[in-house]
Amino acid sequence: MAEDILKIVNISKSFGNVNAVSCLNINVKEGEIYGFLGPNGAGKTTTLRICSGILKPDQGYVEIDGKEVGLDKVEFRKSMAYIPDRPYLYEKLTGWEYLNLISEIRGIINWEGKADYYLDFFELRDSINRLIEGYSHGMKQKLVIVSSILHSPKLLLIDEPMVGLDPKSSRKVRELFKKISSQGTALILSTHSLGVAEELSNKIGIINKGKLVAEGTMEELIEKSKTTDKDLETVFLKLTEESENG
Ligand SMILES: Nc1ncnc2c1ncn2[C@@H]1O[C@H](COP(=O)(O)OP(=O)(O)OP(=O)(O)O)[C@@H](O)[C@H]1O
Ligand SMILES: [Mg+2]
Repeated sequence: MAEDILKIVNISKSFGNVNAVSCLNINVKEGEIYGFLGPNGAGKTTTLRICSGILKPDQGYVEIDGKEVGLDKVEFRKSMAYIPDRPYLYEKLTGWEYLNLISEIRGIINWEGKADYYLDFFELRDSINRLIEGYSHGMKQKLVIVSSILHSPKLLLIDEPMVGLDPKSSRKVRELFKKISSQGTALILSTHSLGVAEELSNKIGIINKGKLVAEGTMEELIEKSKTTDKDLETVFLKLTEESENG
């Protein structure tokens, strides 16, 4: 049986009177890609930020590879990486210097070969010795993705990875996600691209107003939504609307 790499246990988080996340429970297993869907403001980014240790939940806790996530803890970070919805990078470094810095921080040795491989894969080779401030959005996003896998994480937390990527780059990113999941990495992926979710996910969770309103395989969600249309868009809209109506 595959192990749960990510365990989100009953987390809640409010901002003032907004309940961004309410009593949320999600498990993601080794080698699984969990598609995390929900309308704008549903609580996806808040959930992923709590999992990455950037934000503290008001209630509940998260475990990554058996280690509890905490703002001041280090252990859990060794087995994970977080790819945020906007790439924050050190603009005055070159791409290569950035990868070097991340590897130093994470204590990874012999990362250069793997970095070279993925820089070729993403066609970043020609730009890698230029300053990041001159990179396009997509180039920055691809650099962040390369930097996040150098330490072979057991879990990747990914927020909106395809935004701003051209079709070829988007396909390469999807290829990469499938490859690392087949090697055992667990992925939780928030996206508004239902096509991407359907293509990649073994399991899909739909969140609305901070609460998980449906979870399962594509077949299970079709069954639950009782629609005759077998596309994720119809299923998604039906399940989201039903949750609104009580
Ligand atoms: N730092 C913050 N301060 C105040 N409110 C916040 C903060 N972060 C999130 N929220 C609120 O929490 C709710 C959930 O936001 P969140 O960013 O998690 O949604 P999301 O599902 O990622 O949405 P999107 O699909 O638009 O990215 C929203 O109502 C948002 O306004
Ligand atoms: Mg978001």
